Amino acid sequence: MPEIAYVNGEFLPLERATVRVEDRGFQFADGIYEVVRTYGGKPFATDAHLARLFRSLEAIEIKVSATAEQLTSIIEEGVKRSGFAEAIVYLQITRGCAPRHRGMPKDAKPTIVMTVRELPVRAMKLTANGIAVITLPEFRWARCDVKSIALLPSVLAYQAAKKAGASDAIFVQEDETVNEATAGNVFLVSRGRLRTPPKSTHILAGVTRDKLLEAGRAAGIEAAEERISKSDLYAAEEIFLTSTTSEVAPVVTVDGKQIGTGKPGPVSARIYEQFARMFIRA
Ligand code: PDD
Repeated sequence: MPEIAYVNGEFLPLERATVRVEDRGFQFADGIYEVVRTYGGKPFATDAHLARLFRSLEAIEIKVSATAEQLTSIIEEGVKRSGFAEAIVYLQITRGCAPRHRGMPKDAKPTIVMTVRELPVRAMKLTANGIAVITLPEFRWARCDVKSIALLPSVLAYQAAKKAGASDAIFVQEDETVNEATAGNVFLVSRGRLRTPPKSTHILAGVTRDKLLEAGRAAGIEAAEERISKSDLYAAEEIFLTSTTSEVAPVVTVDGKQIGTGKPGPVSARIYEQFARMFIRA
């Protein structure tokens, strides 16, 4: 099965896809992205992802002529060409090419790039056993609600987690407020209640997060969007991270401390089951 790329109107094999050196995405990380997955060959929650993509574009003043309908067709066409049933679609829009200067160029045409790759099943099996995470002081920028391609802090945090023998890192503010993981939102279960930090400029408003809250409530579990502190994390009965790629990743240790029984918990499983029933198998 081929891995597919799309660059400014053209579909081509991934290994042949290129962008120019003076693309502002390459020079300044001046762009935004989205990651959409498929279930059984069908892109999941494209509308929510594209709504967020347009919010990100607006926040950084990139104007694209492509509409949500056109981007949806590009995604669907890419998935079809790839033939993958379980695919990860990466869509990136940058400010385009211009001689290197910080000022926003007036007439640059935004670059639209997409890749379609198979989703490795291996990763899903790994998270089923639960993962270890560490906490790190928040050191990203103040607009984490924008899905910026500037991911260096996230890369460094992920590397720090790996060095510590963990799978991911959770960013925590100076006042101990928990934000999110390097590529996922944080949920915890405490006294049977589901809690996740409220939407703000400190976190990305995850599409999976919203669906999980909906699934939790549908499963009869009280779900609150409220501040979580680092000590709440340590004392939680269950913790999990959510994202498009990992769906629900149970966390079994934080900073080496065991969470709950040290195994993926029953409430997480119940919510995931409801999520699958409502959105995957529907
Ligand atoms: N990341 N928070 C951050 C910082 C993220 O990068 C992501 C997703 C999320 C979860 O968002 P969603 O549920 O919409 O996927 C939260 C994608 C998957 C990535 O960067 O690969």
